[in-house]
This record gives sequence, structure tokens and C-alpha cells, in this order.
Amino acid sequence: MSEARWAEVDSYVSELLAPHDRALDGALAASEAAGIPAIQVSPPQGKLLNILARTIGAKTILEFGTLAGYSTIWLARALPEDGRLVTLEAEPAHAEVAAANIANAGLEGLVDLRVGRAQDLLPQLAAERVGPFDLTFIDADKASSPEYLAWALDRSRPGSLIVADNVVRDGQLVDLSDEDPAIAGQRALHEMLAAEPRASATTIQTVGAKGYDGFTVALVSGR
Ligand SMILES: C[S@@+](CC[C@H](N)C(=O)[O-])C[C@H]1O[C@@H](n2cnc3c(N)ncnc32)[C@H](O)[C@@H]1O
Repeated sequence: MSEARWAEVDSYVSELLAPHDRALDGALAASEAAGIPAIQVSPPQGKLLNILARTIGAKTILEFGTLAGYSTIWLARALPEDGRLVTLEAEPAHAEVAAANIANAGLEGLVDLRVGRAQDLLPQLAAERVGPFDLTFIDADKASSPEYLAWALDRSRPGSLIVADNVVRDGQLVDLSDEDPAIAGQRALHEMLAAEPRASATTIQTVGAKGYDGFTVALVSGR
């Protein structure tokens, strides 16, 4: 089975079940025009994030890694009028495009976009006593995913979901000789979850327009 066929199926699913409107099309066009790498989630994945958030009735969402705001738009569209999504982006050029894309989608009242490295922004968020978060989406620097998971677990409630993207990475997840910190981070994330009494998790492998990868979903039980 070829990558071209995976992409074709992604297009088929996207057109039927996760169609773009003006704001989503505009977000990707603005991202491309700004030279931002197209490493956002695919449309079916964005729709999945939206469905997960709606399924749990999420009112508070935390996102690590905004890029140009594509996943932010899918997630924020799941929120009620009094909901709030905090999204963290290290790269000011990405954040500038994201802010415009979020405003273009009419979501600026729901989205709190913070610019800086998440590691530097988290103490401020803690001081502001933000959270607990109903859903956390971990999609920033992959080596730091375990750190973000630990932070999110401490700021979740029973019933919260934590989703981490790009955890399989072409199957390198199980290549123990691979010392790439991004891969090691995904193994550490799995080991943390295996030992974590407060959460129940699984990982789903995916293929699609973005190649072969996967995501982890953890349900926080609070015990
Ligand atoms: C995979 S992209 C996010 C894609 C986005 N969630 C989407 O699907 O539309 C990762 C983003 O994380 C940002 N990033 C990298 N390191 C970071 C850090 N330490 N703190 C916050 N953001 C970071 C990158 O600049 C990049 O924009």
C-alpha cells in the first residue's frame, strides 16, 4: 500500500466528513504564504480532536504547539461560548499567523494564545491557577512531551482527556537503538503512562497524508 493511496483516502475522508470552510482554508493558505512548515494535523485528525472535545463537553482546553492555529481552530470550535482554550507557541512568527487565523475564524474571544517556550510559560500559567483542563493536546517539541504530560496530569480532572500527537514516528517508537530525543520522549511518555495510576491510555497507529505515525489518548481517572 503506497503513501499516495493513504493521501487519497485522507482526501476522500476530508471532503466527506471533515470539509474545510473559509477559515480553515484561509488558515492553511496563510500558513503556506508565510513559509510555515505544513506540520499541522490533517483534516480528519482535526475533526477527531473536535469530536473528542465535544464528546466530553470540554470547556477548558490546553494546547502545546499552536503553529498557525489549524488544530486550535478545530478544538476551539468544540467549545461553548464561555469556554477557553490556552495555546502555547514558541515561535513568534508562527504565533503572529496563528493569531490572524484564529481571528479570521471568529475565535479570538475563546483562545488565549501565549507566545514563548512552553517550559517558560508554564510557571506563569501555574501562578495564574489556570485549569483544570478538560482536554490537553500535546503537539510541540516532541522531546518535551513527557514534561508536558506530567504538567497536564496535575491539571486535569477525572474525565479529562490528554492527547499526544506524533508518538509513533515511522515506527521509530520501538527502535531502542534510536537515541533521537524526540523518539526517546515518546518512549518516556508511554512508560510514564504505563506507570500512571491516574490515567488509562492507549496509542493508535495512523497512516495518511502525513505518512505513518500515531497518537496517544489518555483518560484521566483521578485515582
Ligand atoms: C507540530 S507543530 C503544531 C501543529 C499544530 N498543533 C496543528 O496541528 O495545527 C509544533 C509547534 O510547536 C512549536 N514549539 C516547538 N517547541 C516549542 C516549545 N518549547 N514551546 C512551545 N511551542 C513549541 C513549534 O514552533 C511549532 O509551531
